Amino acid sequence: MGHPVVAVGIVFVSAFIAMAASSQYSHPLDPLTATEITAIRAAVLASPLVPARPLFFHYVGLDEPDKPDVLFYAYGAAATAAATTSSQMTLPRRAFVIARAGGQSHEFTVDIADNASVLSHAIHRGPGFPMFTAEDQIAAMALPYKYPPFVESVWRRGLDVGEVGCGVLSRGWFGREQPAYGGARVAKMECLVVDYNATANIYARPLEGVVMVVDLDQMAIIGYRDRAVFTVPKAEGTDYRADKVGPPFTGPAAPPGVVVQPDGRGFHVDGHLVKWANWEFHVGFDMRAGTVISLASLNDTDAGGLQWRRVLYRGFVSEIFVPYMDPEEEWYFHTFVDAGEYGLGASASQLQRGADCPANAVYTDGYYAGSDGKPVKAEDVICLFERYAGDVAWRHTDGIGPGRPFSEVRSDVTLVVRMVVTVGNYDYTLDWEFKTVGSIKIVVSLSGILEMKAINYTHVDQIREDTHGTLITENTIGVYHDHFVTYHLDLDIDGTKNSFIKNTIVPKRNTGVRATGGAPTPRRSYWTVLYEVAETEAEGQVNINGAPADLLFVNPNKKTKVGNEVGYRLIPAGATATSLLADDDYPERRASYTKKQVWVTPYNKSEKWVSGLYAEQSTGDDNLAAWSKRNRRIKDEDIVLWYTVGLHHVPYQEDFPVMPTISGALELRPSNFFERNPLIRTKPPGNSPNCSCSVGGSG
Ligand SMILES: *[C@@H]1O[C@H](CO)[C@@H](O)[C@H](O)[C@H]1NC(C)=O
Ligand SMILES: *[C@@H]1O[C@H](CO)[C@@H](O)[C@H](O)[C@H]1NC(C)=O
Ligand SMILES: *[C@@H]1O[C@H](CO)[C@@H](O)[C@H](O)[C@H]1NC(C)=O
Ligand SMILES: *[C@@H]1O[C@H](CO)[C@@H](O)[C@H](O)[C@H]1NC(C)=O
Ligand SMILES: *[C@@H]1O[C@H](CO)[C@@H](O)[C@H](O)[C@H]1NC(C)=O
Ligand SMILES: *[C@@H]1O[C@H](CO)[C@@H](O)[C@H](O)[C@H]1NC(C)=O
Repeated sequence: MGHPVVAVGIVFVSAFIAMAASSQYSHPLDPLTATEITAIRAAVLASPLVPARPLFFHYVGLDEPDKPDVLFYAYGAAATAAATTSSQMTLPRRAFVIARAGGQSHEFTVDIADNASVLSHAIHRGPGFPMFTAEDQIAAMALPYKYPPFVESVWRRGLDVGEVGCGVLSRGWFGREQPAYGGARVAKMECLVVDYNATANIYARPLEGVVMVVDLDQMAIIGYRDRAVFTVPKAEGTDYRADKVGPPFTGPAAPPGVVVQPDGRGFHVDGHLVKWANWEFHVGFDMRAGTVISLASLNDTDAGGLQWRRVLYRGFVSEIFVPYMDPEEEWYFHTFVDAGEYGLGASASQLQRGADCPANAVYTDGYYAGSDGKPVKAEDVICLFERYAGDVAWRHTDGIGPGRPFSEVRSDVTLVVRMVVTVGNYDYTLDWEFKTVGSIKIVVSLSGILEMKAINYTHVDQIREDTHGTLITENTIGVYHDHFVTYHLDLDIDGTKNSFIKNTIVPKRNTGVRATGGAPTPRRSYWTVLYEVAETEAEGQVNINGAPADLLFVNPNKKTKVGNEVGYRLIPAGATATSLLADDDYPERRASYTKKQVWVTPYNKSEKWVSGLYAEQSTGDDNLAAWSKRNRRIKDEDIVLWYTVGLHHVPYQEDFPVMPTISGALELRPSNFFERNPLIRTKPPGNSPNCSCSVGGSG
């Protein structure tokens, strides 16, 4: 996160346009439609409970029905004994709303079925604030131009106010910091030289040394500091637009992977439900979380395929915590929680067809509420596509058999659900990749532009002090920082009640004692597996960089034919950094869960946001670590995995002017879930046409 100077891709939809395809939901987990958002707005504004005006909407999202009822809806009575509604299911359709009015944060639950009405109202009295709205930020951006001390600072740097733009940065939380601004909804503003004629890379040209404080409710600048003048880095060599970079271009002329699907697309989309190969799942959208994957289940044809076998009830990115490592005046507060402060769904980019997703992708839109409560259409923000990257799912060559060597090979084709979130300078590509082997691979890929600090140095030989980053070009420091992407993964492995198992791998000395009575051998060592069931939350917290272990989620009530508990294991795939901040440092207190990659909690519908419902200026009193202090039981319970993909980012010159993608991932992989490799029944690849085609194939 950095300076969200320009709001792009926001298309405001008139409340009166009927969205034929999206006016009616069809599944209880479907995201709110434009029509529903319009009705929610009317109900909140008509409610006598909050007479204060103006009223601004900060969050409007689905308040999903209770889990037992959704399970009953999706899988029938077999899935749950606790459903409150019987055979004729009419599930409640509700929204949760956070709005600001009269200097307070108001929570509403709204019944949207038939005639929308407010069911409940509460005032949030604790610390923290809801997400910024786009309108908050746009209004704040206009303030500095009319603020004389700022205008003077710009002149002092030999610039004109028309050449600069400022963005709203969350101020974090720093205890009893002075001034504390009386608990107001306050943010900071920092500025850049914005001259798209010179370069599109506005982040490469910070107006260093100037920080403003803005009260977002009063919409006024209430603090200002111009500490020192620094040379503004030059524009030359910073642009990344193809027409500015210019030829000769290196690399292939076009991606070689023309997609040919002679039998057509292999997946089927019905509303928000997706069916592909042996998978079924629901794809939702939320203005805070972005993509929400629900009810992911497998058809185990080897076992008859009579019922869906459940894997994941709900999965989404709960938070992205990005602390910068520069404790100086203009930088110490750069400790962003992107989902809770800016909203991942609200920051999702319109995907570029054929570039962000391949030619065979299909696209869906999202809807969320603007600060006036009216629906905003986020166009083409999710894509789905089948991916074949030339890899092998399984193979074997038999060279011993009579007569010939022969090979059996199966291609690895997967289904990807993708969203790209652009929070200011950073771009996160968030993938959910479903594999026929039963795996879900969850990938975050980072690109975009570094947050850069202007400095007077032009060569590393001039630097004496700690600059808290790398000199990546003249007058420019790429500041050290972290990314912690935390996923909420409500696993329901073949049922609701699961246990968390730590299979620690322990080295052993060979003592020569043989239970089976064989002769002593000269081997001196080996390793074995120590099976340990986590009883309570404290035992569910793991730093995976410690002892080697296989971490499993099992259903202790379901066993394979040979008696193993059916399960899934967590396979971290790179990016396993944990936070190195001191426990008593303020940003760490807000995101104290970042000291361990793995936490397991009992399911609780209200525990969704790992850094708290009110993450903006949160204090850590309502986060995962705080909830887990209760040390609840997690053995044979409905449990949730919280997993953090973590990266320490030391910038290098290749990260400039725009960063090549770097990824981190985790995989959830069946482990004694199936009786045998489920891929055994996949078809061998047919005769695909020889591809030396020079024109695109069909989708
Ligand atoms: C729906 O709500 C509106 C506004 O609250 C009210 O005027 C109208 O009578 C209601 N209609 C029904 C069918 O309840
Ligand atoms: C950029 O170029 C346009 C068109 O040439 C011109 O109108 C505009 O004033 C220029 N902007 C700046 C900041 O120089
Ligand atoms: C950086 O260089 C500018 C231009 O030479 C100078 O005005 C300014 O004082 C310098 N800033 C610092 C912090 O040394
Ligand atoms: C699983 O797939 C088989 C074969 O396509 C089909 O007959 C069966 O109905 C499917 N099971 C479910 C639960 O949809
Ligand atoms: C759910 O979690 C919230 C917040 O941690 C807590 O206040 C509430 O009591 C919990 N509910 C249950 C049923 O445990
Ligand atoms: C495809 O390639 C094979 C082997 O190179 C060749 O024998 C065959 O004629 C080619 N088919 C087409 C349609 O080009």
